[in-house]
Amino acid sequence: MIFTVAIDGPAAAGKGTISRAVAAQFGFRHLDTGLLYRAVSAKGGDPVDAARGLRPADLDRDDLRSLAAGQAASRVAAIPAVREALAGFQRRFAREEGGAVLDGRDIGTVICPEAEVKLYITASAEVRAHRRWLEVGGDEAQVLAEVRERDARDMGRDTSPLRAAADAVVIDTSEMPVDEAVRRASDIVERALEARR
Ligand code: DC
Repeated sequence: MIFTVAIDGPAAAGKGTISRAVAAQFGFRHLDTGLLYRAVSAKGGDPVDAARGLRPADLDRDDLRSLAAGQAASRVAAIPAVREALAGFQRRFAREEGGAVLDGRDIGTVICPEAEVKLYITASAEVRAHRRWLEVGGDEAQVLAEVRERDARDMGRDTSPLRAAADAVVIDTSEMPVDEAVRRASDIVERALEARR
Protein backbone atom coordinates (compact mmCIF):
# COMPACT_ATOMS: atom_id res chain seq x y z
CA MET A 1 0.00 0.00 0.00
CA ILE A 2 1.24 3.47 -0.87
CA PHE A 3 -0.07 5.96 1.69
CA THR A 4 1.46 9.30 2.65
CA VAL A 5 0.73 11.45 5.67
CA ALA A 6 2.06 14.99 5.06
CA ILE A 7 2.48 17.05 8.24
CA ASP A 8 3.46 20.69 7.79
CA GLY A 9 3.61 23.70 10.07
CA PRO A 10 5.90 26.22 11.77
CA ALA A 11 8.65 25.42 14.28
CA ALA A 12 7.63 23.99 17.67
CA ALA A 13 3.95 23.55 16.80
CA GLY A 14 4.07 19.85 17.72
CA LYS A 15 4.68 18.31 14.26
CA GLY A 16 7.51 16.08 15.46
CA THR A 17 5.58 14.56 18.36
CA ILE A 18 2.46 14.01 16.26
CA SER A 19 4.45 12.55 13.36
CA ARG A 20 6.34 10.06 15.51
CA ALA A 21 3.15 8.99 17.30
CA VAL A 22 1.18 8.52 14.06
CA ALA A 23 4.06 6.59 12.43
CA ALA A 24 4.36 4.29 15.46
CA GLN A 25 0.61 3.71 15.69
CA PHE A 26 0.15 2.75 12.03
CA GLY A 27 3.55 1.12 11.44
CA PHE A 28 4.58 3.75 8.86
CA ARG A 29 8.11 4.98 8.19
CA HIS A 30 8.82 8.54 9.39
CA LEU A 31 11.03 11.25 7.90
CA ASP A 32 11.75 14.49 9.75
CA THR A 33 12.59 16.58 6.67
CA GLY A 34 13.82 19.53 8.76
CA LEU A 35 16.76 17.35 9.71
CA LEU A 36 17.86 17.29 6.05
CA TYR A 37 18.08 21.10 5.94
CA ARG A 38 19.75 21.18 9.36
CA ALA A 39 22.36 18.66 8.17
CA VAL A 40 23.02 20.62 4.97
CA SER A 41 23.81 23.81 6.85
CA ALA A 42 25.87 21.94 9.49
CA LYS A 43 28.11 20.42 6.79
CA GLY A 44 29.36 23.89 5.91
CA GLY A 45 30.88 24.84 2.57
CA ASP A 46 28.66 25.40 -0.43
CA PRO A 47 25.10 24.48 0.64
CA VAL A 48 24.11 23.26 -2.83
CA ASP A 49 27.09 20.86 -2.92
CA ALA A 50 26.28 19.81 0.64
CA ALA A 51 22.67 19.04 -0.33
CA ARG A 52 23.69 17.09 -3.44
CA GLY A 53 26.22 15.07 -1.45
CA LEU A 54 24.09 14.50 1.67
CA ARG A 55 24.58 11.00 3.18
CA PRO A 56 22.64 9.19 5.95
CA ALA A 57 25.63 9.60 8.31
CA ASP A 58 25.26 13.40 8.01
CA LEU A 59 21.92 13.12 9.84
CA ASP A 60 23.54 11.45 12.86
CA ARG A 61 25.41 14.53 14.13
CA ASP A 62 24.36 15.48 17.64
CA ASP A 63 24.47 19.25 17.05
CA LEU A 64 21.50 19.42 14.67
CA ARG A 65 18.74 20.06 17.22
CA SER A 66 19.86 23.44 18.59
CA LEU A 67 18.06 26.76 17.99
CA ALA A 68 21.09 28.01 16.05
CA ALA A 69 21.02 24.94 13.78
CA GLY A 70 17.32 25.61 13.12
CA GLN A 71 17.98 29.22 12.14
CA ALA A 72 20.88 28.18 9.89
CA ALA A 73 18.69 25.48 8.29
CA SER A 74 15.98 28.03 7.58
CA ARG A 75 18.56 30.15 5.69
CA VAL A 76 19.85 27.35 3.43
CA ALA A 77 16.26 26.19 2.91
CA ALA A 78 15.51 29.43 1.04
CA ILE A 79 17.99 28.46 -1.72
CA PRO A 80 16.00 26.88 -4.59
CA ALA A 81 18.85 24.56 -5.71
CA VAL A 82 19.16 23.18 -2.17
CA ARG A 83 15.45 22.34 -2.10
CA GLU A 84 15.67 20.82 -5.57
CA ALA A 85 18.59 18.59 -4.50
CA LEU A 86 16.61 17.23 -1.52
CA ALA A 87 13.26 16.79 -3.26
CA GLY A 88 13.84 13.45 -5.03
CA PHE A 89 14.81 11.62 -1.85
CA GLN A 90 11.76 12.97 -0.01
CA ARG A 91 9.40 12.05 -2.87
CA ARG A 92 10.72 8.48 -3.06
CA PHE A 93 10.45 8.14 0.71
CA ALA A 94 6.84 9.36 0.56
CA ARG A 95 5.69 6.99 -2.17
CA GLU A 96 7.52 3.77 -1.32
CA GLU A 97 5.43 0.76 -0.42
CA GLY A 98 4.36 0.56 3.23
CA GLY A 99 3.11 3.99 4.31
CA ALA A 100 5.10 7.07 5.30
CA VAL A 101 4.78 10.13 7.50
CA LEU A 102 6.83 13.17 6.48
CA ASP A 103 6.93 16.34 8.51
CA GLY A 104 8.23 19.67 7.26
CA ARG A 105 7.10 22.89 5.63
CA ASP A 106 6.20 22.00 2.03
CA ILE A 107 5.26 18.31 2.12
CA GLY A 108 1.56 18.71 1.31
CA THR A 109 2.10 21.61 -1.09
CA VAL A 110 5.22 20.70 -3.09
CA ILE A 111 6.87 17.37 -2.17
CA CYS A 112 3.74 15.23 -2.11
CA PRO A 113 0.59 17.09 -3.20
CA GLU A 114 -1.01 13.66 -3.76
CA ALA A 115 -0.65 12.70 -0.07
CA GLU A 116 -3.66 10.78 1.23
CA VAL A 117 -3.67 12.83 4.47
CA LYS A 118 -2.47 16.41 4.87
CA LEU A 119 -2.26 18.05 8.26
CA TYR A 120 -1.18 21.58 9.10
CA ILE A 121 -0.12 21.81 12.74
CA THR A 122 0.10 25.32 14.12
CA ALA A 123 0.02 27.33 17.37
CA SER A 124 0.52 30.97 18.32
CA ALA A 125 4.12 32.23 18.19
CA GLU A 126 3.99 32.89 21.96
CA VAL A 127 2.94 29.34 22.80
CA ARG A 128 5.53 27.84 20.45
CA ALA A 129 8.29 30.05 21.84
CA HIS A 130 7.31 29.11 25.40
CA ARG A 131 7.55 25.39 24.56
CA ARG A 132 10.96 25.86 22.94
CA TRP A 133 12.13 27.93 25.90
CA LEU A 134 11.13 25.15 28.32
CA GLU A 135 13.44 22.84 26.33
CA VAL A 136 16.41 25.13 25.76
CA GLY A 137 16.20 27.74 28.55
CA GLY A 138 17.85 31.16 28.22
CA ASP A 139 15.95 34.38 27.55
CA GLU A 140 12.32 33.69 26.60
CA ALA A 141 11.93 37.02 24.78
CA GLN A 142 14.93 36.12 22.64
CA VAL A 143 13.46 32.69 21.85
CA LEU A 144 10.20 34.40 20.81
CA ALA A 145 12.12 36.81 18.56
CA GLU A 146 13.87 33.86 16.90
CA VAL A 147 10.60 31.98 16.40
CA ARG A 148 9.11 35.06 14.72
CA GLU A 149 12.20 35.55 12.57
CA ARG A 150 12.13 31.92 11.40
CA ASP A 151 8.37 32.08 10.69
CA ALA A 152 8.88 35.19 8.59
CA ARG A 153 11.71 33.58 6.59
CA ASP A 154 9.97 30.22 6.10
CA MET A 155 6.64 31.82 5.14
CA GLY A 156 8.10 34.66 3.11
CA ARG A 157 10.58 32.89 0.84
CA ASP A 158 9.87 32.68 -2.89
CA THR A 159 10.41 28.93 -3.28
CA SER A 160 8.05 26.56 -1.47
CA PRO A 161 7.01 28.96 1.31
CA LEU A 162 5.39 27.49 4.40
CA ARG A 163 1.63 27.53 4.03
CA ALA A 164 -1.24 25.11 4.55
CA ALA A 165 -2.28 23.16 1.46
CA ALA A 166 -5.84 24.05 0.42
CA ASP A 167 -6.97 20.53 1.35
CA ALA A 168 -5.02 20.25 4.62
CA VAL A 169 -6.79 19.80 7.97
CA VAL A 170 -5.56 22.53 10.32
CA ILE A 171 -4.91 21.56 13.96
CA ASP A 172 -4.16 24.50 16.25
CA THR A 173 -2.34 23.23 19.34
CA SER A 174 -2.18 26.59 21.15
CA GLU A 175 -4.65 25.42 23.78
CA MET A 176 -4.59 21.69 23.16
CA PRO A 177 -2.69 19.07 25.16
CA VAL A 178 -0.35 17.05 22.98
CA ASP A 179 -2.21 13.75 23.48
CA GLU A 180 -5.41 15.39 22.21
CA ALA A 181 -3.57 16.64 19.09
CA VAL A 182 -2.16 13.14 18.53
CA ARG A 183 -5.64 11.62 18.92
CA ARG A 184 -7.14 14.01 16.35
CA ALA A 185 -4.35 13.31 13.88
CA SER A 186 -4.70 9.54 14.36
CA ASP A 187 -8.48 9.71 13.85
CA ILE A 188 -8.00 11.53 10.54
CA VAL A 189 -5.46 8.95 9.36
CA GLU A 190 -7.71 6.09 10.48
CA ARG A 191 -10.67 7.50 8.53
CA ALA A 192 -8.56 7.98 5.39
CA LEU A 193 -7.29 4.39 5.64
CA GLU A 194 -10.83 3.09 6.07
CA ALA A 195 -12.00 5.03 3.05
CA ARG A 196 -9.38 3.20 0.98
CA ARG A 197 -10.34 -0.27 2.19
O1 DC B 1 11.38 21.49 11.23
P1 DC B 1 12.73 22.10 11.60
O2 DC B 1 12.64 23.15 12.67
O3 DC B 1 13.75 21.06 11.93
O4 DC B 1 13.22 22.83 10.25
C1 DC B 1 14.40 23.61 10.20
C2 DC B 1 14.29 24.57 9.02
O5 DC B 1 14.40 23.84 7.81
C3 DC B 1 12.99 25.35 8.92
O6 DC B 1 13.04 26.56 9.63
C4 DC B 1 12.84 25.56 7.43
C5 DC B 1 13.55 24.39 6.81
N1 DC B 1 12.64 23.36 6.30
C6 DC B 1 12.08 23.57 5.06
O7 DC B 1 12.28 24.62 4.47
N2 DC B 1 11.29 22.61 4.50
C7 DC B 1 11.04 21.48 5.14
N3 DC B 1 10.28 20.55 4.55
C8 DC B 1 11.57 21.25 6.43
C9 DC B 1 12.34 22.24 7.00
